[in-house]
Amino acid sequence: MSLTPRDRARRPVLDPTRLAFLTGREEQRFLADRPRSLALLDRARAHMPGGVPMAWMTAMHGHPPVFAAEGDGAWFTDVDGHRYLDMNQADLSMNVGFGPPAVVAAVADRMRRGSQFMLPTEDAIWCAEELAERWELPYWQFTLSASGANTEIIRLARHVSGRDKILMFDGKYHGHIEDSLVIMAGNGVKPELYGLSDAAASRARMVPFNDLDAVDRALAPRDVALCIVEPALTNVGVVMPAEGFHQGLRELTEHYGTFLALDETHTQIASPGGLKRLWNLEADAVGLGKTIGGGVPIGAYGLSETLAQPLKQPPVMQGAPMESVGGVATGGTLYGNALSMAACRAALSQVLTPQGFVRTAALGAQLADGLAGLFAAGSLDWQVHRLTSRSGFTFADHLPRNAAEARELAQPGLYRLLRLWMANRGVWESVATAGPTVSFAMAEAEVEFYLERMREFLGDIL
Ligand SMILES: Cc1ncc(COP(=O)(O)O)c(C=O)c1O
Repeated sequence: MSLTPRDRARRPVLDPTRLAFLTGREEQRFLADRPRSLALLDRARAHMPGGVPMAWMTAMHGHPPVFAAEGDGAWFTDVDGHRYLDMNQADLSMNVGFGPPAVVAAVADRMRRGSQFMLPTEDAIWCAEELAERWELPYWQFTLSASGANTEIIRLARHVSGRDKILMFDGKYHGHIEDSLVIMAGNGVKPELYGLSDAAASRARMVPFNDLDAVDRALAPRDVALCIVEPALTNVGVVMPAEGFHQGLRELTEHYGTFLALDETHTQIASPGGLKRLWNLEADAVGLGKTIGGGVPIGAYGLSETLAQPLKQPPVMQGAPMESVGGVATGGTLYGNALSMAACRAALSQVLTPQGFVRTAALGAQLADGLAGLFAAGSLDWQVHRLTSRSGFTFADHLPRNAAEARELAQPGLYRLLRLWMANRGVWESVATAGPTVSFAMAEAEVEFYLERMREFLGDIL
């Protein structure tokens, strides 16, 4: 019987019995080697649900979390003394590496001289000037996370457009925001998790990535304030845009009077101006966070002249005691604090430099070439994607074109085994499905270390 391409793509690489055996073996080893982490977890459970400061830390790996001890460059150690090469860098929030000296010095200095005033510091001007140049958007504001940045972009777009709906793409993640924690359900949209309101979901529309006809239909009623999109989806593995997708999206959003925001929280690692700059994309807003903080919490968003207008208005009394600029719901006590601004300036000026991006892209190519070579040598038809420094792969002979296809190709059991197997041999991936990413602290030796582990992994399972 001949297999269709779809059957071939879904065919498991390992038969279920062997997968279960290998996973069980790796799990046992993982737990046996980490007595100190397990003891801390036991103690922690008394006053933190699940034993962690943020419950989702237990949801990510399918095994107990390890307690981290310290990081240095591309590596970190846990409390049991295991050393890991970090190939996901806390979902790219530490893509600069641990403790970059320039950021450490700037943060220590700022901390000594006062880290938060609820007043601007000169570093903020430098950061806004630099981001304006890199992302080609004139105005910038700062928050504490990318979630905060996207929240404010959504509010501004609603206010300026006078519309209520938000358009997103299946497979997106734009942060822990009521408006975007939604999933497709039949022809509609529903809350993604418990605790979210149906009302927020009723203001959302979702369509498949790379489907311009669906975008057209979603925008046609002219009630959509904002379309928010990652230039390439990065939260269901990586899904690259089809030829002409972004150009078509820009034309449609302009045609229907909808603002377009690029969420470059992850894709900023592609170039000094993210994929917007690399692919010459146009947008009314850009949302950022993670990497640009150099390890210190930050969010940032860039705005066009039109979207920034309300923030140039005089404060409006919305009701005592809060005054709000232009009457728009933006702001937070620690947003734009002096410490984040100092860290961001040091990270942008001394780590996330144009030369730094050239180097990480070259290492990303080394990683992708190495993976492709290993798969070919193992007679595997797994495909490698190349997103500069982020070079993951799909367990299939083609790359997905949208989130539904990505889920179909995912093989969660195999990812779980891969993650455990790698963790037991000195490679950490917080989000294994994301695919390995080169950090600014890596060199060729680190890429080779990862590839060598992958070679051993394939040797073990095939
Ligand atoms: C594309 C994208 N946008 C926004 C966010 C939210 O970032 P944060 O959790 O730092 O607010 C994430 C987090 O993974 C993301 O991947």
